Amino acid sequence: MSSYTHGHHQTVLSSHQWRTVENSAAYLIPYLQPGAAVLDVGCGPGTITAGLAERVAPGPVTAVDAAESVLAEAAKATAHLDNVTFATADVHALDFPDAAFDIVHAHQVLQHVADPVQALREMRRVCKPGGVVAAREADFGGMVWYPSPPGMDDWRPIYYNVARGNGGEPDAGRRLSSWARAAGFSDVTSSASVWCYSTPEEREWWSESWGGRLVRSSVAEHAVSGGHATRADLERCYAGWKAWAAADDGWFSVLHGEIVCRA
Ligand SMILES: C[S@@+](CC[C@H](N)C(=O)[O-])C[C@H]1O[C@@H](n2cnc3c(N)ncnc32)[C@H](O)[C@@H]1O
Repeated sequence: MSSYTHGHHQTVLSSHQWRTVENSAAYLIPYLQPGAAVLDVGCGPGTITAGLAERVAPGPVTAVDAAESVLAEAAKATAHLDNVTFATADVHALDFPDAAFDIVHAHQVLQHVADPVQALREMRRVCKPGGVVAAREADFGGMVWYPSPPGMDDWRPIYYNVARGNGGEPDAGRRLSSWARAAGFSDVTSSASVWCYSTPEEREWWSESWGGRLVRSSVAEHAVSGGHATRADLERCYAGWKAWAAADDGWFSVLHGEIVCRA
């Protein structure tokens, strides 16, 4: 298993904790029927998990993550629910029997793992025949922003090197359908959706999450130890992010690929 590139620094968690089913898994909503048994793989701090559990209650939701430390955050996010249980797990080798779940979901996980095709095979194995395996991944090549103050355009090439050096694939969104077919699915529905940040509050939060993570999180450590950037390079990127956030006409969109696969 490759280690999770971003880690769980607060700059990273603040972006994950903004996520809901509505803004990050809308494509899955038609399938979230009361009573369904759901597995949420790589649940992180669990805000999407909470929305899944509210929609399928009284159906059971099992939420797993490779990092035990983040499951405490997820437990807080779902404390008002009684149909969620947690476990640590590696998506490449899930510790669940075959055909255990109606819906198996992963959000922003496959871009980080060593073998996304094996991950989807495992997600398929634990899904009931006729059930749904669903995934949504950002595509970093499809991120678009304006304006581009000095330093702002430099973060993406550094991030590509860091993520790929750590065994991940940042252009995951465009590859989801291909990975699913390689994993054995023949019934694959593909779609796309975006996040878009433009208000002063959104710009401030997004730039602190991304610019801040470049200097403070595990991304910074991987960048420097892997020889992909110096601390000065990362500070220059952070300054670019802050200048972008300060621009009244600042705009940032994040393209995502999505798949719904019938098991
Ligand atoms: C970008 S976060 C997404 C969290 C959550 N799904 C969300 O969108 O808010 C990716 C999560 O996947 C977890 N992860 C990374 N590799 C994993 C693996 N091999 N098996 C299970 N979880 C993994 C990380 O620990 C991290 O919490």
